[in-house]
Amino acid sequence: PRHLLGIEHLSPEDIRTVLDLADQYVDFNRRTVKKTDALAGMTQINMFFENSTRTQASFELAGKRLGADVMNMAMQTSSVKKGETLIDTALTLNAMHPDLLVVRHGSSGAVDLLAQKVECAVINAGDGKHEHPTQALLDALTIRREKGRIHRLTVAICGDVAHSRVARSNLLLLGKMENRVRLIAPPTLMPSGVAEFGCEVYDDMREGLKDADVVMMLRLQKERMDGGFIPSEREYFHRYGLDAEKLAYAKEDAIVMHPGPMNRGVEIDGTIADDIHRSVIQEQVEMGVAVRMAVMDLLARNLREDRGRALAGET
Ligand code: CP
Repeated sequence: PRHLLGIEHLSPEDIRTVLDLADQYVDFNRRTVKKTDALAGMTQINMFFENSTRTQASFELAGKRLGADVMNMAMQTSSVKKGETLIDTALTLNAMHPDLLVVRHGSSGAVDLLAQKVECAVINAGDGKHEHPTQALLDALTIRREKGRIHRLTVAICGDVAHSRVARSNLLLLGKMENRVRLIAPPTLMPSGVAEFGCEVYDDMREGLKDADVVMMLRLQKERMDGGFIPSEREYFHRYGLDAEKLAYAKEDAIVMHPGPMNRGVEIDGTIADDIHRSVIQEQVEMGVAVRMAVMDLLARNLREDRGRALAGET
């Protein structure tokens, strides 16, 4: 494919291709390779209309390690603040002929729309409540490295499923790879119709966590609750926060994941998050660089092929 807009467009083979290449970017100390020239001569522009620490930093690092010229647009100080639309901003940047645009936006579907207007490859770095495909891919790589496989596992995704693009992308990816997915959330934070995705739905942590291989916690996204019901943090932690007592229902060797940023004492007990025998949260961040290198490397190859074909057609 030309773009990476969501997991929904990927086949199991596409997913394996990304994970296999990402694995090659990880050395035995889990440090990603320092430098290649896979993106030499190419320009990558990062446009983050929503805040980010991990995703933006790792896309920047990944691009630099692949030898691209990387530009981070400071969207807070751009002409968007003067009323310029997303599409006009994209067309303006398109006129500077970037090869890769990495975009995060608060509205679901905004990145798909933008991809229809530009000539380069577009990567969705998170759009509203829709998808966050590179997060699901880095989660899959982390699981595969920890468990030795990314199929036939029981994965519990717990917390604010309703507002989570991470949950949606993971649900799609884990389903495509034939895993058993359980969603655990209070009824007010569970979207309707999720059972159509072939997952099991729970509102009780202990029932949902029983014998899970992987426990994936989600942040309580109060900023997306706009006026709706916001649970008290204390009550939420009591019922849905991951602590040692609830984790004991999962398998003895279950791993604990969180995409970050994390609210300690709200969705996860700090001691669980820091437990090096159970938590793989730092490994997820490490795998983020490798996965983003792999995604950009593969899209750049496709872009070169497309351009080569277009050139051959012209002559
Ligand atoms: N996991 C994730 O997307 O984190 P950031 O919002 O910090 O990029």
